[in-house]
Amino acid sequence: MKRSYALAAALCLMFFSAGVALRTPGSSPRPAGPAVEQDTASHEQNAQLIEHELGELRAKIAGREKEPAGDVFKNIQLNKAMEAGRLPGMMGFWSNALGVTCKHCHIVDQWEKEDRPEKQIARDMVAMVGTINTDLLKKIKNLDSPEPRIGCWTCHRGKVIPEFFPPREKKN
Ligand code: HEC
Ligand code: HEC
Repeated sequence: MKRSYALAAALCLMFFSAGVALRTPGSSPRPAGPAVEQDTASHEQNAQLIEHELGELRAKIAGREKEPAGDVFKNIQLNKAMEAGRLPGMMGFWSNALGVTCKHCHIVDQWEKEDRPEKQIARDMVAMVGTINTDLLKKIKNLDSPEPRIGCWTCHRGKVIPEFFPPREKKN
């Protein structure tokens, strides 16, 4: 009896401290950037905005797709040698993985600027994914896949903040 009480107390403490560390959307400790407009838009509207922006971007770089991204765009830091034509797809992929539009990381049409912390976070996330794939996963023996790897979707699954706990069972 005493033991199970102690166990329950320990578990409570564990969940409580984990809960404190977790963030919920809307309680961002970061300085508020420009309003994130897509929060109120429907899924359909977001998809349309992404398609529209990607279409404009593709039209803008037409004919230069094979040139290095570092030459075609103004502020590429991740992979300057990547073909410029791959950047729009990458932006669409990230938006989709986080369930956001371009506006989460950019002010539309000011793509090269560094005015949103989310843009810096995205770069750091790319670095993290790189370390996990090229270093950490390779050190784990006896995995099933010959080349196990993770990507943005592995954690984010269409959400800005990846889930930590499994979803609770609905009571009603
Ligand atoms: C999760 C954050 C994120 C989202 C969402 C996102 N981007 Fe980006 N974008 C970045 C980052 C980070 C870079 C810089 C990449 C680098 O340094 O190599 C970038 C760079 C760019 C550039 C190059 C700008 C330049 O001249 O240097 C363009 C254009 C761009 N994004 C367009 C878009 C469009 C259009 C969308 C929506 C479909 C979008 N992005 C969605 C993070 C994001
Ligand atoms: C191993 C899991 C994992 C992977 C893979 C991952 N992320 Fe994240 N990401 C997180 C966690 C955890 C946070 C922090 C959420 C929070 O603030 O509590 C986060 C936060 C972010 C944020 C800030 C969100 C916000 O506005 O608060 C961005 C942007 C982001 N990730 C982009 C990416 C991109 C782009 C990729 C793929 C290149 C990626 N992430 C891959 C776990 C991951």
